Parts: sequence; C-alpha cells; structure tokens
Amino acid sequence: MHAKANSMTANAKLQAWVQDTAAMCRPEQVVWCDGSPAEYQAMLRHMILAGTAIRLDPNKRPNSIFVRSDPADVARVEEFTFICSRSSDDAGPTNNWRDPDETRNLLTGLFAGSMQGRTMYVIPYSMGPIGSPIAKIGVEITDSPYVVASMHIMARVGTRVLEALGRDGEFTRGLHSVGAPLVGNVPDTPWPCNSASKYICHFPEPREIWSFGSGYGGNALLGKKCHALRIASVQAREEGWLAEHMLILGLTNPEGRKIFIGAAFPSACGKTNLAMMNPTLPGWKVEVVGDDIAWMKFGADGRLYAINPEAGFFGVAPGTSMKSNPNAMLTARENSIFTNCAITPDGDVWWEEMTDTPPAELTDWLRRPWTPGNGRKAAHPNARFTAPARQCPVISPDWENPAGVPISAMLVGGRRASVVPLVNEALSWQHGTFLGSIMSSETTAAAAGAVGALRLDPFAMLPFCGYHMGDYFAHWLEIGRAADPAKLPKIFQVNWFRKGKDGKFLWPGYGDNSRVLKWVFERVTGLSQAIDTPIGRLPAPGALDVSGLSIGDEALADLLRVDVDGWLAELPLMKKHYARFGSKLPRGLEEELKSLEQRLQSAAVGARR
Ligand code: GTP
Ligand code: SPV
Ligand code: MN
Repeated sequence: MHAKANSMTANAKLQAWVQDTAAMCRPEQVVWCDGSPAEYQAMLRHMILAGTAIRLDPNKRPNSIFVRSDPADVARVEEFTFICSRSSDDAGPTNNWRDPDETRNLLTGLFAGSMQGRTMYVIPYSMGPIGSPIAKIGVEITDSPYVVASMHIMARVGTRVLEALGRDGEFTRGLHSVGAPLVGNVPDTPWPCNSASKYICHFPEPREIWSFGSGYGGNALLGKKCHALRIASVQAREEGWLAEHMLILGLTNPEGRKIFIGAAFPSACGKTNLAMMNPTLPGWKVEVVGDDIAWMKFGADGRLYAINPEAGFFGVAPGTSMKSNPNAMLTARENSIFTNCAITPDGDVWWEEMTDTPPAELTDWLRRPWTPGNGRKAAHPNARFTAPARQCPVISPDWENPAGVPISAMLVGGRRASVVPLVNEALSWQHGTFLGSIMSSETTAAAAGAVGALRLDPFAMLPFCGYHMGDYFAHWLEIGRAADPAKLPKIFQVNWFRKGKDGKFLWPGYGDNSRVLKWVFERVTGLSQAIDTPIGRLPAPGALDVSGLSIGDEALADLLRVDVDGWLAELPLMKKHYARFGSKLPRGLEEELKSLEQRLQSAAVGARR
C-alpha cells in the first residue's frame, strides 16, 4: 500500500486534523479509506499476513475471517471509560469523569509516536443512511486494520461520506490507537494492544473521542458506543431527540397490519435475538431494522421516527444457533468477521450451543487444542460475529429508509431472576420513564468485570449515557411533554429471565417472546385486555396468547404475578439509586416512586386482611 496524498476532501477542518494527528502519532504512512471492496480485501490480507486473522474455508464461510484478540482485550472496559466534559457535574454520578485539559495532555503524551511503524487509516463514516436527516457523520482515525474492516461492515464508510460531508460539514472526531508502536526490530504481535494503559475518553463539547490501548469492539469501533451513544446522547438532548441502546423491529400481525417497536435491554440481554426472531405464533412476522442502537426524532406528523445508525450487527456468538436465532446464523453465513470463538480443523467457526453436539476437536479462542468435556469454554463468552445487516433474511424493507420508522411501543427490561414480571405496561409516559429509570440487570461478559452481579442500569444506558443521568431522565420527561400523548409510543417493562425455584428460566424466550409482542401489538391497537396492578398494567387472564405452548399453569402464574413483597423489598435500592442524582432527579420521577410505594403498601395491607 502506498501513502496517498490526502486530496480526497476539501474539508479544511478535516485536513488540518488529519495532518496534526499524523504529526503527533508519527505513522509510517497515512491512508484515506475509500470504502471499496478492494480496500476491504486489502485489510483481510493484511490481517492474515500479520497472524491476526485466519481465512475461513471459502466453501463453508465465503469471504470470512476468524480473529483472536489478546486474552486481556476481550470486552468493553467501563473502568477506563471517561466523560471529559468541562464540568464534572455534566458527567454525573454514573460516569467516570476526567478533567478535559488534563486528559488531553495525558492522551497527547500517550498518542505521541503511538503509530510508529504502522499505517494510520482515516475512515470517514456515516451513522445512518447517507443523506438521512437523522444521520450524522464521523471520522475515525485508527492504526488497526481490524477496525477498518469492521467499520466497513458496521457503518457506511469512504468516499461517498466525504462527498456528503462537503467543504464545511460537521463531523465527530474519533482518534484510536492500539497503543503499540513498532520500534526497533521487535516483531509485531497478532493482536497488538497496550496492556499498561487503556483510555476510552469522550469530550462531549467538541464532539471528540480519544481511544487508546484496546482494539476490541465498543472500545475501538468508535462509531458505535462512543459516537452513536455517548456523544450522540449529548447532541440528542441539546437538539430534542433520543439516542438509545435499543433494537428496532417491525411487527406484522396475521391481518397484515404492521407496527414498529424499540427495545432497550442491557448488553448481552437479548436485543439481537428479539430483533430478528422467528415468531412461534403462526401468521406473525418480525423484521429487523436495527439490533443495538436507535436514533429517534419527531417527524412532521408528531410521531417519533427511528433509524438504525449502524449497517451491521456485532452480535454475541455463544448461544446463537439455528434453533435459537436462525436469522443471525444466516446473516453471518458469509462476508463476516468472527472474533474470539473457536475454529474447527476444517476451517469453520464454532461456539457454545452452536450445535447440539460439539465437534470432536477444535482450537479454542486461546489457541489451545480443545475437546468436548474438557471443562473449558471453547469460545470466550463475549465472542462476537460482525456481519452486514443487509444479509439478514428478515431485514426490514424500511431498514435504510432515510425518514426512519414510526415507533408505536418501547420495551425496557433487564436480566432479572425474580421480582420483575414477564410484561408490564406503563400507565403513562412518565410512569414508563420511571420504569426505565429503575431498570436493573445482572451484569454480563460484554464488559470486563464481574458477571451476574445485579446493578441498576437505567434504560440500558448506564455505560453509554454521555451526560448526567438525572438530566437524561429529565430529557425523557421533556420528550413526553413536547409530544401529543396520543402519538407517543406506549412503554412496557419486560423480563425474559425470571427463574423458578429450580433455578431454570420460567419462560421459553426467543421465538416465544412473540407472545408478548402480540400482547404489546394489541395493547397499541386497542384489541387486548389488561388489569391494573400496583406496578402497572399486566395481561388480563387469557390475554397472553399461550396457545401451543407447553408451560405449566404455575409457571405462567409466577411469570405474571405481581410480587408485592419483592417490589417492596426493592424500594430502598430505588431510593438509594435516586439519591445519587440529588437535585437533578426530576420531581415527576420522585412522585412516581412515592405513588408506587403507596400502591404497594395498600396492596400489602389488602393481602394481609
Ligand atoms: P449487545 O450486543 O451486547 O448489546 O447484546 P444484545 O442485547 O443484542 O444480546 P443478545 O441478543 O446477543 O443476547 C445475549 C444472550 O442472551 C445470549 O446468550 C442469548 O442466548 C441470551 N438470550 C437472548 N434472548 C433470550 C431469551 O429470550 N431468553 C433467554 N433465556 N435467553 C436469551
Ligand atoms: C454492548 O456491549 O452493548 C455491545 C458490544 O453491543 S460493544 O460494541 O463492544 O459495546
Ligand atoms: Mn449493545
């Protein structure tokens, strides 16, 4: 590859930033990415030569590679993720804040010479269909070919983005380095990264991201969590829209009527699975618009319209199978990148539960021989596939609609073994905001740290909200106030993960979640019944369609039970959570918490009488 003159853009700010960055990072060469298939192939070849990637058997997985990261660089690092707003108060109690000037100095030191011996790639990208009024442009500078190839799949990249940016267009700046300069005669490693320092820093006011030391997922593909959620959430608040950790799906009933639904679940809690499920209910159809992020703006008709800012899926591999999520399996059948799963002797990938019987032998994600029953996992629990969204068999015909799709319902929910029922409809937008604000979930392998620890994760945005969470709640209430209540999406709390006394999931989940979607659809269209309870509206007896499902009456009753004592026992946690936001906690939410407490107490008294 040759150093190319950077004559591809007339945008003076971009030119200057690229020049300054090259002077700081001192790469061997600078390449402006054009987004072409030839460029994608060059990245694959580069990774294969460097030992980063293995080409999979083209007869089994055409045009696909297998990558193993450094064992210490396998997930997002929340501990090293920072919001560097001018005022620490703007980052709020749920974010790690760092002083912007101090951090810029620190990072300038780390980035100085950090790309020596490497190529610096300039990736212009669009989050959202190019030209959509909801889309935004960013530019990521990186020294990782893995990032370039991944961004080709996950976003719209290259020359067409520079054309849309034009001479004076605004863009978010994302600077990324694996932090492993090649100096002297030291050979490169298959997955260069920096074991001593990792910093994922966001400067909301100048719309800048500086990411150092990690090459993995949300740490390094800066268009995704860093731009489309942390920076965009700040912009969304300023401009009156929403940037959310939500899937978007289209749901069609047997009569052919279609609505669109958004759903906020924390990392590795079922967004990809719900977004592209095959309903077990006959005649119902689900189509995917997005599986991770939604940007929503009011349309001229007063409704909220959502786009998926991404162009691909970066999905959790373990647990994905032709049984659990056939559409994900089919999406990743070619032109895909597989990271940290296992490889079969004949050049295909494998991960836990992909098939009922594991292959007789494998090489695991740590490059060791692996045989069934050896007591180790073959794939890392956060192993992922990166696949183009357009390859999904159930991709929505509207997935690239520049106007977005009108959202009729929003689901919020986490991984809760107890207390939270299968589904619960909010009484109002404010009550729905309350349910989102007190969402809690067990942590997963998507982030480094403990797995299975219960934490409050409001709207699944705890790691992704780029500003004060109290202001974020106020922004949600403001969106509700700005809208005609009849046109606002209805909000529902859901939980697929309730467990019985035997420790097993009570609800079959996956395609059977269509039964809950049906009830949601019919609540939106006014066709199904609910009963008022102290926590919200639950399906009336018989309103949840369980036809053809083998589930015990007891399990079903448990799933739809309002656990008054369980909710009462969680009130102190909610109060402690709310206390963190001090004077920034909106009064409306405080009132919702009080009313919930009163309703629960009268229910408890009623039950004792
Ligand atoms: P991120 O990409 O990290 O934001 O995650 P996601 O929300 O898209 O999660 P995903 O759909 O990939 O699901 C992650 C895990 O949840 C996998 O292990 C799935 O098998 C499991 N899962 C998904 N849906 C269900 C369900 O309905 N029931 C149960 N029990 N498990 C589920
Ligand atoms: C998540 O952790 O929520 C993800 C994966 O979607 S990552 O891109 O690594 O953030
Ligand atoms: Mn996610």
